[in-house]
Amino acid sequence: MAQILGGVFTSHVPAIGAAIAKGLQQDPYWKPFFDGFLPVHDWLADQRPDVAIMFYNDHGLNFFLDKLPTFAVGAAPIYQNADEGWGLPLFRPCQGDAELSWHIIETLVANEFDVTTCQELLIDHSLSIPLELAWPDQQGSFPVRIVPIAINTVQHPLPSPKRALALGRAVHAAIESWQSDAKVVVFGTGGLSHQLDGERAGHMNPDYDKFCLDNLATNPDALTQHSSLDIVDLAGSQGIEILNWIAARGAMGDGVQEVSRNYHIPISNTAAATLLLQTEAAKVMA
Ligand code: DHB
Ligand code: FE
Repeated sequence: MAQILGGVFTSHVPAIGAAIAKGLQQDPYWKPFFDGFLPVHDWLADQRPDVAIMFYNDHGLNFFLDKLPTFAVGAAPIYQNADEGWGLPLFRPCQGDAELSWHIIETLVANEFDVTTCQELLIDHSLSIPLELAWPDQQGSFPVRIVPIAINTVQHPLPSPKRALALGRAVHAAIESWQSDAKVVVFGTGGLSHQLDGERAGHMNPDYDKFCLDNLATNPDALTQHSSLDIVDLAGSQGIEILNWIAARGAMGDGVQEVSRNYHIPISNTAAATLLLQTEAAKVMA
């Protein structure tokens, strides 16, 4: 049986990618954010996961407002980054785990999550930047195979936090029934509070962010007390990317403990956070 070792949760602001490309990790503006990844590096070096299941949102690279799946699962052998217009260099491609993707898709559909399946999928900043943050300074390929799971956080109607948590829990069941001895880590990318446009551009909400960070490990159901529209109100129109974190937490199962957390305002227009959680399987293996 595959083992789920932990979860890495992080903001995915495009400017982080520019800072990586320019080597600004020690710059006073950037250091407080990048230092939050030092415990993640140690943990990943200890645990050596084989596969990363990545809950994220596509920002118009694959899906635009004319066709936007609520939930989509990648089932490609490889995922290439592509230019989205942020002026970033192209980041490294990442190998997929198509076998696990299809197992997840089959399990989800059997559990009445009617997902869109993507045998070709480009990855945008919300996957590439978390991968580069987690495994930096590597000339070669990433040491994991990925399964991307995209959640619509960009166009109404948005899925509810309750549904995102249930999706994650269904993915957890899929991992548990996967006949493999692979070690799995989950990622949730985006957030925390931010709003990029409109009258409230620049809106952030440290109280709501703290509520999320405090409850995600031990009481993720607390995050379902708000509707998606409540969260847009509380956390900003892009703060709803917390749905990706909620789903990723659901995929971890029970017995989850916090390893490290970092919260830093602002990075660009975003209240940036990095949270590392682990399961009991990780503690046994450490
Ligand atoms: C920013 C944050 C995001 O999550 C994103 O997708 C794009 C930009 C920002 O704060 O600049
Ligand atoms: Fe985003």
